[in-house]
Amino acid sequence: PKVIFSGIQPTGVPHLGNYLGALKQWKRMQDEADPGTTLLFSIVDLHALTMPRRMGTLAQGKREMLAALLAVGLDPQRSIIFYQSTVPAHSELQWILSCTASMGYLSRMTQWKDKMALATNASLQDDGTTKRLKHGLFSYPILQAADILVHRATHVPVGDDQRQHLEFARECVTNFNHAYGGSYLVAPQTMVSPAKRVMSLRDPTKKMSKSDLDPFSTITLADEAYKVQKKITTALTDSDPTVSYDPAGRPGVANLLELWSHFDPHKRTPAVLAAGLVGVQNHLGTLKARVGQAVEAEMQEIRERYLEFLAPGKAGYLDEVVQEGGRKARESAEETMKIVREAVELGA
Ligand code: TYM
Repeated sequence: PKVIFSGIQPTGVPHLGNYLGALKQWKRMQDEADPGTTLLFSIVDLHALTMPRRMGTLAQGKREMLAALLAVGLDPQRSIIFYQSTVPAHSELQWILSCTASMGYLSRMTQWKDKMALATNASLQDDGTTKRLKHGLFSYPILQAADILVHRATHVPVGDDQRQHLEFARECVTNFNHAYGGSYLVAPQTMVSPAKRVMSLRDPTKKMSKSDLDPFSTITLADEAYKVQKKITTALTDSDPTVSYDPAGRPGVANLLELWSHFDPHKRTPAVLAAGLVGVQNHLGTLKARVGQAVEAEMQEIRERYLEFLAPGKAGYLDEVVQEGGRKARESAEETMKIVREAVELGA
């Protein structure tokens, strides 16, 4: 049977990278799934503990992410939506997997290597506390593998930055099945979304990221039309006032054309959209106005629904969604854990 699983960190309102790279695909897969397919989407609050954060912000971040998932059209009647920490089997399987996972492989993960380099280069964080690497950051991919494997997921829709983590999840399957001599766990397939990597509006060589401190680098699901337009208008491009699609030579303009293409109802490619602007006055200004309009046409309704779901009157409904989702997810996980506990001789 087909099982679709994906996860997102509870970092509050998502940005267009999350939307195009993940949420939009989740919604599409939900709508196209046949009745036998199970869909699970998790807000990964345990993973959030690996990141430096202000105390008192996690509950709000989870609630905002939940509201965003519902606003993009995930339907709790169809998709199991839950907070990771309400399904203890994720942590239990993480431990069991960590006993067959390779240290060497984990040490080679790019996210870990990047964090290592940062910690070595700068010993102080912005707030003056010492930057020390934590084990949770190192074992992060094992928890992510457990998220996926505990539900026997066959398909995992993600953006390009998660590709390596998914390869590692498959490695965990191989290691575990080999160590215990059976095909207990299922290897998942990575489904990279068409918007593989949405870039920052301030630095088109970096991906759009929630950890970026400059609010002008991202567009969020909550940004009003004027804000979206302002961020696009001030997006970093280059000194050439014409428009051409040249990702290597003109990454800023290419990022805008790609954004437009992803939001284009006619699904025109970036190159076709660029060609359409030849002969137009003020190429770049026109491009920026068109991108803003295309984004707003799709995002307006989502933004309104997002705000509705966050209204105090909806709090009870949001709680119900994750309670019910948690219950179903625990059932799904338990099926796998029976097999796993039996395999490792922890079965009753
Ligand atoms: P997270 O919360 O950083 O991102 C959630 C999803 O958004 C995608 N994404 C992007 N796609 C395109 N362009 C961008 N600029 C961009 N930024 C983010 C990510 O690829 C991801 O699909 N480790 C994961 C969360 C996780 C998970 C899982 C994912 C935990 N367990 C199991 C899949 C399966 C993460 O930090 O995603």
